[in-house]
Amino acid sequence: MRKKIAAANWKMNCTLSQAEDLLNKLATAQVNLTTDKISIIAVPFPYLLLAKEKLASKANVFVAAQNCYTKKSGAYTGEVSVEMLQSMQIPYVIIGHSERREYFYETNQVLADKVNIALEHQLQPIFCCGEALSIREADTQNSFVEKQLKDSLFHLTNEQILSVVIAYEPIWAIGTGKTATSQQAQEMHKHIRNVLAEKYGNEIAQQISILYGGSVKGNNAVEIFSQPDVDGGLVGGASLNADEFSIIMNALN
Ligand code: 13P
Repeated sequence: MRKKIAAANWKMNCTLSQAEDLLNKLATAQVNLTTDKISIIAVPFPYLLLAKEKLASKANVFVAAQNCYTKKSGAYTGEVSVEMLQSMQIPYVIIGHSERREYFYETNQVLADKVNIALEHQLQPIFCCGEALSIREADTQNSFVEKQLKDSLFHLTNEQILSVVIAYEPIWAIGTGKTATSQQAQEMHKHIRNVLAEKYGNEIAQQISILYGGSVKGNNAVEIFSQPDVDGGLVGGASLNADEFSIIMNALN
């Protein structure tokens, strides 16, 4: 059984006191999580240990980093390595968010390197893919996303790909309030699973969690998560409000 996941991506938000407040609220939130229905909270680097500490007693809630560098250590001022994340026992790292691709020029090849070094250090990548509006309008989103997956993930072994969580985030739906319809999400998620099945076989493809991201809110999560190939969400704006994110976590059920 693949896991269902409600993942929060705080992006570059929250001061320390705001982060403390949000984590305290998440730590006491009434949520029904299980080993198969988990939550992952991706906080800015400075708050990783705080988040771990605050959420330590919360079963089935994990902390993630939002990025990592391609090198293990060395003279790379300002970067954060997977070795550091591993030493803090952070289990997940987001790789390839569209904002990293767009503003920091991360290419499919760089992302392949990040996926590799993350897996070498026992971090599970939450690998993001998704097309811009112009690609959707040209109806070439399937081949575009397929190439992102092939270029950055398809060198992985069967065992390695099983450690990857995929997040489909159409760029036109991120922070715009314009979600993909549940049908559009399902179509793309099914396509992604088919592409994974062609490469790794159906048994493996069925075990990989594929999350949807892009304007997931408390009032649309149930509908989106109910699609057969949508295994939860990666949530930006709505994850900054503990009450709303609790509704989203409970929408996994
Ligand atoms: P929003 O939920 O704010 O649209 O952001 C989605 C996202 O980019 C999550 O990684």
